[in-house]
Amino acid sequence: MTAHTTAPPAPPAPEPLVELTTTVNGRDVTAAVPPRLHAADFLRQRLGLTGTHVGCEQGSCGMCTIVVDGEAVKSCLMLACQLDGRSVQTVESLATDDRLNPLQQAFRESHALQCGFCTPGFLMTATALGYQGGGCPSREEIREEIAGVLCRCTGYESIVTAIESWFAGAPQRASDDEAGPGSAGGPR
Ligand code: FES
Ligand code: FES
Repeated sequence: MTAHTTAPPAPPAPEPLVELTTTVNGRDVTAAVPPRLHAADFLRQRLGLTGTHVGCEQGSCGMCTIVVDGEAVKSCLMLACQLDGRSVQTVESLATDDRLNPLQQAFRESHALQCGFCTPGFLMTATALGYQGGGCPSREEIREEIAGVLCRCTGYESIVTAIESWFAGAPQRASDDEAGPGSAGGPR
C-alpha cells in the first residue's frame, strides 16, 4: 500500500502594510503598520510609549485610554491605521521632564492612586474632560465621565476628588505659562 503525503498548507500571504502619518504628543510620526495592529500596541511597541496600559483588550477597563483630537478613546478598540491624520496625546505628554502637570499633582495630593495601573486611563480621561470646556463639573458628572475606567484599588472617591480639585484650581493655573487655557496642564 502506497503512503500518500500531502504538502502542508502554504502560510497566508502577509497583509500589505498601511502607511500612516500622525502627530503623537506633538511629534510628527510616519509609519507603515499591519492593518490589524491596534493603536495601543502601536503606541507601546513601535513608539515605546508604555504609559498607555493594556488590561482587558476589549474596551471594558479603560486602562488604555488616550486622547485623539481632544477626545478620550480606548486605544485597544482602535486600529493604528485609524490614527492617520489625527492628533494623539498619551500620558507621557503630561509631565515636563520630571515635573508633574497640575492634574498629575492633584492625583498625587489627593492620594488618587495606589498601584497606579489604571492611572494613565484616568489622567487621559480627565484631560479630555478638561478640553470640553464648560467649567467645573459636579462630582456626579465627574463620576459619569470616568465610568469607563476601572480601578481595583482606590474606591474612586479620591480620584473624583483629584479631578474636582484640578478643575477648581483651573483659574489660578490658567495664568501659569505651563498650564494655560487649552494646554495639556489645565482644563479649558
Ligand atoms: S485595555 Fe482597552 S479598555 Fe481595557
Ligand atoms: S490604583 Fe490600582 S487599579 Fe487603580
